Amino acid sequence: MLNWFQSKGSKTNASELDKVNVPRHVAVIMDGNGRWAKQRGLPRVAGHHSGMKNVRKIAVAASKLGVEVLTLYAFSTENWKRPKDEVEFLMKLPQEFFPLEIDELMANNVQIRMIGWERGLPEHTLEPVKAAMKRTENNTGLILNFALNYGSRAEMLDGIRNLVADVQNGTLAPDMIDEDVYSGYLLTKGLPDPDLMIRTSGEIRISNFLLWQMAYSELWFTDKFWPDFTTDDFYEAIAEYQRRARRYGGV
Ligand code: FPP
Repeated sequence: MLNWFQSKGSKTNASELDKVNVPRHVAVIMDGNGRWAKQRGLPRVAGHHSGMKNVRKIAVAASKLGVEVLTLYAFSTENWKRPKDEVEFLMKLPQEFFPLEIDELMANNVQIRMIGWERGLPEHTLEPVKAAMKRTENNTGLILNFALNYGSRAEMLDGIRNLVADVQNGTLAPDMIDEDVYSGYLLTKGLPDPDLMIRTSGEIRISNFLLWQMAYSELWFTDKFWPDFTTDDFYEAIAEYQRRARRYGGV
């Protein structure tokens, strides 16, 4: 039985979407790569590779719709617990992805960003991300934001540490601390909060992703594995978002 928050699998075209009520920020948990591979008798890393190949398509679709920010959960602080070979494979994806896709992303005026801890990432992972950020820094279209070595609780703790330090050194008065001020201590500083969160693969949870930022996000889930997630699925999620009445605690 399908729940209201789940994909109905109905076909949606971009032309059917309301061009005005487009989510400013869409966050995606790209889950199910391993199961996608298993279904085909392939090693798990083949699923990650196929998942990587899906990123550009969804990013370009988001860009064409006028989404301002697309944040993709590419590697969590908890993913280090995976087998060494799998972690090493994931760490090599940026050096394949960016040379392959950067021209198309540039042509779509996409700006690359990253949230997460640079510390702990190997140089061969970080360097291509930084080069892509540099190359696209003057682009003014979609912000394609990779959450890489990212965890929301750690982000919030770091934010609190920095905020307390500012209180102690006298640059921040405690009675000035409100939601906007605190948001400025997070890695998403300056970005709007996600309006919509999509998770693929049938798992119905948030998994330490943008916990503060998603306080009022609309959540949408699909059973499809990330490598199978199409632009039509993306449009279906946006169409469902557009049918929802956002009340932010009001009536
Ligand atoms: C979760 O699926 C997916 C990941 C941990 C990795 C996602 C990364 C990509 C799709 C590529 C990102 C691209 C770049 C350029 C960094 P899972 O392995 O948990 O799947 P399972 O639940 O079926 O095992």
